[in-house]
Amino acid sequence: MPFSLRFVVPLALALAAIAYAVVPLVDRLTFQWFVRDLDARGALIAQTAQEPLAELMSEPRVAKTRVLRYFDRIMQGERIYGLGFCDRAGKLVYATNHFPQAVRCPGANERPQARSLVLQLSDGPLHIWTNPIAAEGTAIGDLLIVHDMSFVERRSADTKKYVLILFAGIALVVALITMLIAEISWRGWVAGVKALLSGETLLRSPLGLKATSPELRPIARDLQALVRDLEAERHARDESQTVWGPEALRRILRQDLKGDEIMIVSNREPYLHVRRKDNVIEIQRPASGLVTALEPVMRACSGTWIAHGAGSADRDTVDENDHVMVPPERPSYRIRRVWLSEEEEKGYYFGFANEGLWPLCHIAHTRPTFRAPDWEHYKNVNQRFADVVVDEARTEDPIVLVQDYHFALLPRMIRERLPRATIITFWHIPWPNPEAFGILPWREEILDGMLGSSILGFHTQFHCNNFFDTVDRYLEARVDRETFSISFGGNLTEVRRYPISIEWPPAALQVQLPVADCRRQVRERLGIAPDVRIGVGVDRLDYTKGILERLAAVERLLELEPRWVGKFSFVQAAAPSRASIEEYQNLDAKVRALAERINKRFGRPGYLPIVLAIEHHDAARVYEIYRAADLCYVSSLHDGMNLVAKEFVASRDDEQGVLMLSQFTGAARELAEALIVNPYDLEQTAAAMHLALTMPPEEQRARMRSMRHLVQEFNVYRWAGRMLVDAARMRHRKRVLARVAGGARRAAAQ
Ligand code: F6P
Repeated sequence: MPFSLRFVVPLALALAAIAYAVVPLVDRLTFQWFVRDLDARGALIAQTAQEPLAELMSEPRVAKTRVLRYFDRIMQGERIYGLGFCDRAGKLVYATNHFPQAVRCPGANERPQARSLVLQLSDGPLHIWTNPIAAEGTAIGDLLIVHDMSFVERRSADTKKYVLILFAGIALVVALITMLIAEISWRGWVAGVKALLSGETLLRSPLGLKATSPELRPIARDLQALVRDLEAERHARDESQTVWGPEALRRILRQDLKGDEIMIVSNREPYLHVRRKDNVIEIQRPASGLVTALEPVMRACSGTWIAHGAGSADRDTVDENDHVMVPPERPSYRIRRVWLSEEEEKGYYFGFANEGLWPLCHIAHTRPTFRAPDWEHYKNVNQRFADVVVDEARTEDPIVLVQDYHFALLPRMIRERLPRATIITFWHIPWPNPEAFGILPWREEILDGMLGSSILGFHTQFHCNNFFDTVDRYLEARVDRETFSISFGGNLTEVRRYPISIEWPPAALQVQLPVADCRRQVRERLGIAPDVRIGVGVDRLDYTKGILERLAAVERLLELEPRWVGKFSFVQAAAPSRASIEEYQNLDAKVRALAERINKRFGRPGYLPIVLAIEHHDAARVYEIYRAADLCYVSSLHDGMNLVAKEFVASRDDEQGVLMLSQFTGAARELAEALIVNPYDLEQTAAAMHLALTMPPEEQRARMRSMRHLVQEFNVYRWAGRMLVDAARMRHRKRVLARVAGGARRAAAQ
């Protein structure tokens, strides 16, 4: 039965039953009204006729013709069937023509009183009004007024007809209104349920509430709050009760994601194959926070990592599909390498990404450079990667983890080709305020590209808020800061804070010697005497890291506290980075020059205050340096998170060593027990260095223990796990929603 008839048929039946019951009632009522009406008319006529009749009857010889003429006069204009007069003996003495014989006079013994009677004859009903007539107070007879009531029957038939028509009309109107409301309410319910289940609208956005029918809104609001609370509570409980490690990630993949396909896209690949001068191919792990964080995640998840093949021997080590299995010691996932021409790399990577977006997002006082040809390359390379994602996808709805500022356009491009994909974009660098971002000539395109994501992650809430402000300023989008979501072009993006971290325990720690041995080895290798305390800095050689400010702080310390001259050396390990960019070449030169100047000023035979190691260090070597240090100084002028700070903490299982941390890093919001400093303030940083070098072991232990606890608990598995759980929640909602929508469609079609 069609959906609408389900309402109409029962309604019509109910109304027919009511009409069936109501019509005789209406019939009876109208009959009674007419009887009462005729009673009143009879009484009125009798009252009018009282006097003339009494007079006529009081004459000694009443002339019959006069009485009948008088009766005829009364009948004129009134619809009276007949009139009669009965004497006190109960005899009909005067009657008009056609006075019905069936009508009887009141009996001689009956008390004179007015009354009415309805006589049912074969020709139809008659109404008889009997009214006593008195002369000088004495009853002299009764006037009988007869009305034909057959018209009542005719009218009653009409009334029945009209009542039935009325009910049919009501039935039709009510049915139409019911169908209309049912349709609207059904859509409202479906929209409400959709929104409720998706959580992106009803639960998260006022859009959803508007889409919900008005009668559902209060319930929807309560449900929103309830579901949000329950979800938050469940997540918080699940999250805090989980022991975050590779197994937890595998469990999420198995249970929550049902083994769904996972892909990572980043510019930097986790393993490069490099041909050495002696023609031997060696494998390098790049100095990259992104790789440090994601590699252990990928080991746990398997899947495909799509990245630029930048190693000199990369092409020699892939199969015919440009795949290579890694990690080399125990292959568990594959890299799909994407080849870029020198020109493409120059425009997309060095140009737009690193001379444009990098300085734009880092407030480190280096001006961004935007060139139209770089932008063209950036767009084309993003498109190339989108094509590879589509090419690699085995399903229509993979989970794609897009990494960083190299791929701002990629989420939208993937969304266009794989609309059902869950795209999680993580922005590893800071997001500036709208004014700073506003100088980018292609700002709308970049924002549009990013909003192709299902989930967009930043390290801190501050960066999320900057992003909300930026979108609010430059796009026609709905920004919902309560539910942390942005609705743009029919797509909903959740914007969340996911502070990145490192694996725990770090793999590089497994191969370390005890701290004392690490110290000895580092001292021997770098020529540092046993009684010299060691400070370390480990970075890519990048102007955002504040390396010049760091070295200047060491110089200031030696000026302010000369007792450290000869007793304190600062080891700066710096991996060369983006070396073909002029700004980086300048920095390299400046760092070397400053170190040389300080060393000339305070150095002595066998002692250098600054020990520069500008070269690539593998993870084991970096951890050895951390473990040799009395203090580690992270002096970034602006940094999304900075994983060096977390690595240093993780490396110190002896619970010794002091972390000095720039207040302009994301890490400073988590590692509160570090000595938090402003790297631009040399007096303050020099004083902090002195404090660190003189900090009692007990205080070092207390601070380090607390920070280690935090890094252990909020490790990279938790970072990735939270994103994957959010992705699973989103995918689950979408699936349920699709089922509900399918059900609704089927119901409507029935
Ligand atoms: O900090 C942003 C970032 O992309 C990191 O994720 C990574 O550590 C670094 O830059 C790598 O830079 P590059 O790939 O240019 O060497």
